[in-house]
Parts: sequence; structure tokens; C-alpha cells
Amino acid sequence: MRPTIFLSIFGLATLAALPVTAGETDSQAAVPTFNRDVAPILYNNCSNCHRPGEVAPFSLLTYEDAAKRAKQIAAVTQARFMPPWKAEPGYGHFLNERRLTDQQLATIRDWAAKGAPEGDPNQKPVPPKFSNGWQAGDPDQVVAMSQPYSLAAEGPDVFRCFVIPLDAKEDEYVSQVEFRPGNRRVVHHSILFLDNTGQARRREKVPGQGYDCVGGPGLAIAGGLGGWAPGATPMQFEHGIAQIVPKGSDLVMQLHYHLSGKPEEDLSQVGIKFSKAPPVKGLTLLTVGNASIDIPAGENQYVVKASATLPMDAEVIGVFPHAHYLCKDMKVDAKLPDGSVQPLIWIKDWDFNWQGSYRYVSPIKLPKGTEIAMQYTYDNSTANPRNPSNPPREVKFGEQTTNEMAFTFVQVTLDSPGLVADFQRDANAQFLAAVLDGVLDSDELGPQQKTQMKMLLNIFDKNRNGRIDPDERPALVEFLKKMPLR
Ligand code: HEC
Repeated sequence: MRPTIFLSIFGLATLAALPVTAGETDSQAAVPTFNRDVAPILYNNCSNCHRPGEVAPFSLLTYEDAAKRAKQIAAVTQARFMPPWKAEPGYGHFLNERRLTDQQLATIRDWAAKGAPEGDPNQKPVPPKFSNGWQAGDPDQVVAMSQPYSLAAEGPDVFRCFVIPLDAKEDEYVSQVEFRPGNRRVVHHSILFLDNTGQARRREKVPGQGYDCVGGPGLAIAGGLGGWAPGATPMQFEHGIAQIVPKGSDLVMQLHYHLSGKPEEDLSQVGIKFSKAPPVKGLTLLTVGNASIDIPAGENQYVVKASATLPMDAEVIGVFPHAHYLCKDMKVDAKLPDGSVQPLIWIKDWDFNWQGSYRYVSPIKLPKGTEIAMQYTYDNSTANPRNPSNPPREVKFGEQTTNEMAFTFVQVTLDSPGLVADFQRDANAQFLAAVLDGVLDSDELGPQQKTQMKMLLNIFDKNRNGRIDPDERPALVEFLKKMPLR
């Protein structure tokens, strides 16, 4: 699967690079050199991944490293395949945006086209120093997998959830989280969840060995502690905002491993900083999603829509779109009650391997009644190089890599922590009503949950078409809001 991705990317890249030589008129003086022009770009945008011991397949620290790959570097940057950054500019302004300017792209392109000159040795820049310790300073608590997890040399990617007790005697307020991969050759990304229901603990049959989980740790979660992908920076909340860790919670560390060709072991860690004072703002998630997914084999424009309405004023601080390999395009907008539209994120070339959470530079204030609407498009044809099935087969909602998902986790703050419970009651009711008809066949539900869901469907599916239609949904939402939900 992977070689095809690169082939298609290079197909694009070669085309994009073609005009380079055609209109070249620059004088000799303008030829960029490595020492003066290119090294600073690489050091600021590439070396945090392209250095020894990091995820990228080669280092880009010295002139020799870069010069022998000049053409390839020009091609992958022109195609905006590197640095990896999926969010479309103009749709949300995010922290740590990895995006080269047109000027930087031109510099690299011209440098490669002119034979990649090294330049004046006096201008040689000092390669950046990287700390191997905690990037955000010493944490208050370090938690880790209880034992190393062994991975085979070869095979499909491994998705595993490890359950780590946090041993909080009372509710705690997390102000900063840093994930530190144990073995960067195999850890591709990680998502951190909190579970105070014991569900995850029950699923981990052998303590410390984790359990298989692709989409998430299960349906009921008490919140999240962010995620990590190569190049990510630690998650830090603004003053007055904290993730509350309910006492007795477990941290569920979901790891996506990409096997390296050699047997490997991993023991990843999380460093947490707490704030002593309780938060002054409420922090919670609005989950938007739809589980009615049934993509015919060969279908290349399958659209899944979903929405949820803010039950009170809120500020959006982050967004985490989630789907599997068939999804190509993800768009999430906030539709305000006054009719205006605030774009939240647009990913035009979704890549499951580069998922992550996106945090806004400044919070986006949205009034009560704002509809968060998502539209995801899937390509289940052979033309999709990421399609895990060849020939394509019918794909339904589910947790496996060969299933699909359509979720957007929107991280919001509320005026006070006291509002979180009400917000969650409303948001959970909307979410359950939205996914009810789609999750009925899912293996993720226990027999008891399945019976409950079927009962609800029987009551609220007035026209008996086996689905909760948009006009049937409000009654179900109202009913669920009054139910004691777990
Ligand atoms: C966030 C980490 C990260 C950053 C930042 C990054 N790379 Fe990469 N790069 C990778 C990884 C990982 C790969 C291997 C391919 C993959 O897994 O997608 C890669 C592959 C490449 C390749 C080989 C492509 C291929 O198909 O073989 C080139 C060339 C490259 N990067 C250049 C760059 C340049 C130039 C920059 C900066 C402008 C950069 N990268 C920034 C992680 C990164």
C-alpha cells in the first residue's frame, strides 16, 4: 500500500515541479545556497523529525544529507507532502502550523534546480540542538506502560490501548500533558483518553499488555488528554483551563504502531503537570458523528454528514477529526444562529497516518444554538491508494481499519466548570440519537446496550424504516436528556 502512495504523490510532485526550469531568468547572484538560505528552512521545519532516532527515514542536518536529496526535497515540498500538515489554510488558524511559505518553496526549488550549491562556509549555520528530556520541563507525574510491549518485525499496523491507573485520590486538574514515545522507530501516533468506568480495564485481559483498539477505547470516555504524532508539541492549557481527571480514572493510551522490519519493543510515557487551583472555566468535548455508514465497493464520492447544536455559549479551542483510510475530504463548519458561517477545519487530503488534534491560536467564541456541521467524503474505489481492500469491498461503520468512522471531537470551554454537566447531558443525548441507528450492528456494543438501543429505535422510529430520521430525532434527544446516562 505505501509505495503506491508515494508513486501517486510523486506523480503530482513531478508535474508541479515542471515549470521550474521553463521560465528561469534569475541572475547568478539570486541562486540560493544551502548555508545561507536552505539550511534555516530545513532546521526550522524538517529537522525535528529528520534527525537520528526520529520518525523520518533519514536525517536532514548536514549539507551532504540535504544535497544528495535536493530534487526529492524540492518535489515533496512543492507537492506540500512535506512537512506533513493537513489543515487547509484559511480554515481555522492553528498553533504549530507546519506550512512553508511560497517564498520558502521557491527558495528550495531554485536551490535544487541550480545544482544544490553549498555556499559560503562562513555562513554555515549551527544545526539545532534537540533535548532528549521533557520538552515542557519536568512533569509533576510521569506514568508509563507497566511493561514493554513487544512488536513483531513485519505485519499490518498495530493499534493497541494500554490502561494505566492514575491513582488520583481526588479529582485533579491537568494543565499540561506531554507524550513521550518509547521507541520512535515504531510509534506512529498516540491518543490519550480518560476512563472512569472501568470499561477499558476490563478489556485489558493481561494487565500491561493492552487490547486491540483502532477507532477508540470504547464508547464511554470521561475526556481526553490530547494526542501525539511525530513533531507534535506538548499540550498546554491557557491559564484557568484544565482537564479534570475524575478520581480513580485510568489513562488509556492508544498507540498506533508501524512495524519497522525488525522486532522492537516500546515503553511509552506521559508526563503530566497539574494546577493546584481548580479551573475557572469548564472544559469539555462536543462529539459530532454519524454511524450510518455503508459505502458500496467502488463508490468514490460517498458523503457522510452530521451535526450537533451547542446547548449554551462556548468557545472552541481545538478540533480532532477522525475517520479511517477511505476518507479523503473533511470539512467542519460552525453555522451561527445569525446565519453566518465560521469555518473550523478543512482537510482535503485526509491521511489516517497523520491524524492529530488541531488547537486554535485563539479560541473561537460561538453562541448557544450554533450548529457544528461536518461533511466527510469517502473514496472506496481502487483509485484511492489508501484503500485497505483490493478489490474494494462494501465498508460499514466500525472500529477495524477495514471499517469506517465519521467523528469530529470539538474541544470547547464554557464560562464555568459548573456548566459542564449540563452541557454533557445535552451533548451526549444528541450524540447517542445521531449514532443510534448506525451502531446497532456494531460489535462494540454489549448485548445489554444492544437491547436498549433496539428498544429506543422501536419507540422513536415512527415510520418504521429502521432509522432515526431527522424529524424523529428531536423527540429522541429530549427523551435521552432526561435519562440517567452512563
Ligand atoms: C512531523 C515530522 C516530519 C517533518 C516535520 C518533516 N518530515 Fe519529511 N518525512 C517524515 C516521515 C515520517 C517520512 C516517511 C514517509 C511517511 O511516513 O510519510 C518523511 C519522508 C520525507 C521524504 C521522503 C519521501 C518519500 O516518499 O520517500 C522527504 C524527501 C522528506 N520527508 C523531506 C522533508 C522536508 C524537506 C521537510 C521540511 C520542509 C520534512 N520532510 C519535514 C516526517 C517529517
